[in-house]
Amino acid sequence: MSKEKLCHIGIIMDGNGRWAQERNLPRSLGHREGANTLKKLCKHVIKLKIPYMSVFAFSTENFKRDRAEVQFLMNLFVELFKNELDFLVEDNVKVIFSGEREPLPKRVLKAMDKIVEKTKNNTGLVFNVCLNYGGKREIVDMTKKMIEKVQNNEISIDEIDEEMVRKNLYQDLPPVDLVIRTSGEERISNFMLYQCAYAEYYFPKTYFPDFGPKDLDEAIEAFGKRNRRFGGVSK
Ligand code: FPP
Repeated sequence: MSKEKLCHIGIIMDGNGRWAQERNLPRSLGHREGANTLKKLCKHVIKLKIPYMSVFAFSTENFKRDRAEVQFLMNLFVELFKNELDFLVEDNVKVIFSGEREPLPKRVLKAMDKIVEKTKNNTGLVFNVCLNYGGKREIVDMTKKMIEKVQNNEISIDEIDEEMVRKNLYQDLPPVDLVIRTSGEERISNFMLYQCAYAEYYFPKTYFPDFGPKDLDEAIEAFGKRNRRFGGVSK
């Protein structure tokens, strides 16, 4: 059993493209396989009773990709949120999103709104999907929101503290404890910058489509052995 408490797990689902390319398959099949992996991981996280999970589904920068790949991913999101993630509704999962709505296509926004509505009263795992998300942009948006509140005399500058900042981000979430980035890349790439301030990082070489529940158990096991000091000294 882990000695460090794991409340919020973050996953940067990297390596779908390379998984496909190494098999001489189109990149889109890598994303499809990644979606299947994500479903398995969700079920596992529900079983482990981890309260929060955030995943990086699409960054604001991902719009720079080939038009066909962006189109494929948008269609995949619609398909998943409309039908394939129905087990989340039954399994008491609350789905929320972090990111900008513009310029996501209407059909994607509609599917997102629908799954949020269907799961809004659920009390189990909170599943935060970062879609059209950028960590720096989130901080910029939070800053603008707070300045507007100051200008409207809703809050005073002296009242601003870390808790208030957290509450003015896209979602009010606890800090991320463990970030897993698959595929061997060892960087954070604009993922939940504020929330990951004291996260532990785990970088398996495995491409995301091959990262199964057993691999997640290993990551959690490794996290359990870390000595988190939060700037203090070891006990
Ligand atoms: C990064 O791999 C992956 C993505 C940009 C897409 C992730 C999306 C899914 C797994 C679909 C399911 C998501 C949800 C939330 C329903 P990459 O394409 O950058 O891989 P590469 O680095 O090997 O090219």
